[in-house]
Formats: sequence, C-alpha cells, structure tokens
Amino acid sequence: MCGIVGYAGRRDALPILLDGLKRLEYRGYDSAGVAIIGSGLQVVKDKGFIANLEAQLPPLKGSTGFAHTRWATHGAPSKVNAHPHVDCTGKIALAHNGIIENHASLREKLEARGHTFTSQTDTESLVHLIESYYDGDLEAAIRKALHDVRGSYAILAVHADEPGKVIGARNESPLVVGIGPDENFLASDVPALLRYTDRVVYVMDKEMVVITPKGVTLKDLEGNAVRREPQRITWSLEDAEKGGFEHFMLKEIHEAPQAIHQTLLGRLANLDLDGFSSEGITSVKLVACGTSYHAALVGKYVFEEIARIPASAELASEYRYSQAPSERPLVILISQSGETADTLGAAREARRRGCKALGITNILGSSLTREVDKTIYTRAGIEIGVAATKTFIAQLVALYLVALKMGQDRGTLGYDELDRLKDQLRSLPRAAQYVLNKAQEIEALAAKYGTARDMFYIGRHVNYPVAMEGALKIKEISYIHAEAYAAGELKHGPLALLTSSTPVVAVAVQDPTYEKMRSNIGEVSARGSPVLAIGTEGDKELPKFVDDVIEIPSIPWIFSPVPVSVALQLFAYAAARLRDCPIDKPRNLAKSVTVE
Ligand code: AGP
Repeated sequence: MCGIVGYAGRRDALPILLDGLKRLEYRGYDSAGVAIIGSGLQVVKDKGFIANLEAQLPPLKGSTGFAHTRWATHGAPSKVNAHPHVDCTGKIALAHNGIIENHASLREKLEARGHTFTSQTDTESLVHLIESYYDGDLEAAIRKALHDVRGSYAILAVHADEPGKVIGARNESPLVVGIGPDENFLASDVPALLRYTDRVVYVMDKEMVVITPKGVTLKDLEGNAVRREPQRITWSLEDAEKGGFEHFMLKEIHEAPQAIHQTLLGRLANLDLDGFSSEGITSVKLVACGTSYHAALVGKYVFEEIARIPASAELASEYRYSQAPSERPLVILISQSGETADTLGAAREARRRGCKALGITNILGSSLTREVDKTIYTRAGIEIGVAATKTFIAQLVALYLVALKMGQDRGTLGYDELDRLKDQLRSLPRAAQYVLNKAQEIEALAAKYGTARDMFYIGRHVNYPVAMEGALKIKEISYIHAEAYAAGELKHGPLALLTSSTPVVAVAVQDPTYEKMRSNIGEVSARGSPVLAIGTEGDKELPKFVDDVIEIPSIPWIFSPVPVSVALQLFAYAAARLRDCPIDKPRNLAKSVTVE
C-alpha cells in the first residue's frame, strides 16, 4: 500500500503535502514524489524516504498538487518507478495506490498507439490511458479511463492546463476528503489531514472526487452526483495513524482479508505467478525462520496435499549447515522482510547446491530477491508490528497459489478440482473476516486463559504448525511461556507437565485428524487442564468435551490454517493487552533479524 495526499487551496501546497505525506510514511517508504501546478506542472521524485526527497526539493510554488510515498508492488524501488507518473505531453501527473491488474494489456495497446513509457510500474499505464482520452476535460478523461481498468486504485491527478483542481478516484484502496475553509484535501488516510481539518468525507468504491479551493464534488463513475455528509473525526493523531486501533498489530490483524485479496489479485485466473514455472521440479524444500518457518511447515502439507509432490521444511539456520543431498529440490525461501540473515544465507547455500530458488517476500527489492531465481511477492502492505500477523496469512496464500500452479503443471489437479480450489481461495477473505467479527468473544476468552504462566498449543497435520505459530505469537507479545506440540506426542512425555493451571489450546477443526484430536483432548482433560478449542462452526460434539470453543467457518480443511491463525493472533493480542505489554515493540525482539 502507498500513501497519497492532495491539496487545492489558498496556501502554498508543498509544505502541506510534505507534512501530510510524513504522516502516511508507515504506508510505504520505497520512494516519494510531488506534483505541483504553479508556473506549469512541476514534478520532483526520488527513491528512498520522504526526507530524501525533501532534501532535494526546490521551493516549488503553487497552491494545487499532490504527493505520494510508495510501497512497491510492480517495478523495483527506484527514481524512475517513483510516483507521480507523467503522460507524454508532460501535462498530466498521476499518483496511485493499488494494483492495476490489466496494466500489461493496457500498456501494449498504448505503446502500439505511440505512447512512450519510462517505468516498469502498473500505474504508468493509467496516466497514458488518461492522456489518450483527454480532450480538455481531465475529469471526463479519468472517468473514461477507469472504465477500462481492472484492479484496485486510489488515484490523484492534475493537469497543467486545469490549475486549482485535483481529481481523485477510488476502488478498493482508501481515499478520504478533508474539508477546510477555502481549501480542501485528499489523502489515503485521516492522519494526513488531522492537522488541518477534522471534517472528512470518505470516498467509496467506484467514485470520483474533484477538489478545488472552493469546493468538493463527489460523483460515481457514470458521472452522477453523490451526496455524502461530512463526518467529524474525534481521534488523536497517533490514534489516526493506527486507523483508530489501539496498536498497529491489531490494525494489521484486521487487515488480513485485504492482505489475502491483494495477494490473490490478478493471479488466480491464470495462476500467473510473475513467471514462475515448476517445470522439472520433483520435490520441494521450504526454508525460513520464525513465523515464516511456520508458514513453511504449513506449506509442506499444502504441497503434498494439493500438488502431490514430496515436500519438507527446514529452519534456515539448520539448512545452511546440513549435508547437501544428491537430489536438487526446488528451494522456497520465505521471509516477510527479505532481510533475515539466516534465510539469505540459506538462499546462497541452495544455489551453491545447484538448486532452483524461489523467494516469497513482502518487500519488493529486498535482499532476498537478489539471492533467488524468482520472487513471488505477498502484498500484505507494510507491517509495523514486530510480531508478524497479516504477512504470515499472506505467506500462506502465496504458498497455496504456488501449490495450485504446481498441481496444474504436473497434472495432479484436474480442471474441476482446480476451479473448486480457486473458488475456495477466493472465499478466504470472508473466512478471515468471520473470525475477526468474533474479536470481542476471543478477547473474553483471553481474559479467562491469559493469566496462565504456562500454556500448551496442540494440533495435528496442517494445523500442527499453526499451533506452533499460535504459541510463538502469545510468547513474543504477552511473554506467557507457551509450548506447541504435535497432539499425538503429548502422551510421550509432555503430559507430565499438565496441571489444572496449564491451559491447552487445541486446534480441533473438522479435518482428517479430527477424531484423533478429540481423543488427545480427552487425555488432556483427564489431567484437569482446561481446554480452549478452535473448532468448526456447527460442530455440536466438540463443545461437550472442552471448556471453550472459538469457531472458524466451515471451509475445506486444507485452508483452515488461515482462519485458525487469525483466531490465535487475536487471542495472543488480547492476552498481551490484558498484561499491558508493549505489543507493537516486544522486549528483546526486532522486526527484521539481520544478524545470525
Ligand atoms: C514474527 O512474529 C517473529 N517476530 C519472527 O519470528 C520473524 O518471523 C522471523 O524473524 C523471520 O522474519 P522474516 O519473515 O522477515 O524472515
């Protein structure tokens, strides 16, 4: 996700735009740029933080313009890929937050009509498309262009020949209007506006907005006027940067549906994974650290179940020093930051062994992308909280996509089964939202169980690594000593630790191991330990054998790690909040471990 800010008013735009943009830097900081209409259109942009741009800015004069801070999705972080993008005439400037799914076909048509492109971004297709429709009315040209576009967008645009006007439009990416006296604002998020106004109007999907110093006009994509009363924001600035959530972590847990949707966007129909091919692959080795390692472990089960290919997972810090086997699996390296030293070392080791290396990361242009043959990006957006939440969910989605691609390429998935799985993947945002809607219920359960000193998390098969991730989450943010165990292993020793003050979280969704999980739960209950189960909605039997149940929706078990993980993230968060822990910055930890 990116940050965008627009201004049309009585004052010089530049200081207002930069101030607002800095409030949105948590949305992305690969590159930044501004477009201001003064004596013509003035555009300055560069790679890096906003401060880097600010240091080189001349005193641009003009009271109309916009600014953009980028989180790269298409095209590495660079000056040429920075926004704003400008059309061939040099009179239209555009900034965009989102993904233009059909950018490649648009670009092909526009280049064939003589348009000259300078960047590798999806956004540049849109500014040339607008140019192709422009005949003296920017608003009309944008409206026509957006009818040709598929994907998500929040855009801001200006035209040198139409001073005093900034035009915005939105579909799936946020855009909000700020209303002031003789000046009006546009932004991705409220924090950019709060210093100037607390009166806002939220732009909805498929709507356009025109701001001038004197007014705001809201219309739908057909040009019909839309009336929407301004709202008054009562948040503090810091609250606003968290979108009204108390912590970034909670905000990011609630962004899971969007993270799933964005990671799937443009990839499911043809399983076009940025050119990844599974040709010649006979086995898979997944390698990562921490939470990403838990994603790797889930991936093992997913590849075996969906792609019918032998798969294993290994900690990056172990893989690097293990004996190189004769076979050459596809090595998939998973790293949210793309900067984890052990994972980078493992990537180099994989290639030393002559293995093909695929990276899965959330940060475009990160170091991992230079250590692998191909990279598939999760598109979870920036994750500020040290504990990984939405990026873990997005990693699972990326692994499902790769497994589907492999199953299709290897012929282990027939058309009907492939279509069914794709539909089930499409429903995952709703499955995550189903659990997010239970946040208050989960908070109450955290109050009941979160006072424990020790906890066990148990699961089987694809939900055993999910139990591991749940235990890690509550460990790292609430400092409760939680241990995950394969449910079938408890009786081989750990059962000795169970007492009435050792709650057990049991992942007991209806999957092939459900009956076994029920008997493991019986072993635990017989020792007097309270059991909090994660179960499937409509399961009337499970509640009879446990103390409490958090329900996930009834979905195919192979996809259950997604809603189960959201539930365990909310549970860990609520437990940590009750203990008044520094949730976004837990003690002793860092967001990216760049040392070995
Ligand atoms: C995540 O909650 C943890 N803070 C940590 O285990 C993290 O997953 C690990 O350091 C790997 O990071 P990466 O995904 O950026 O490689």
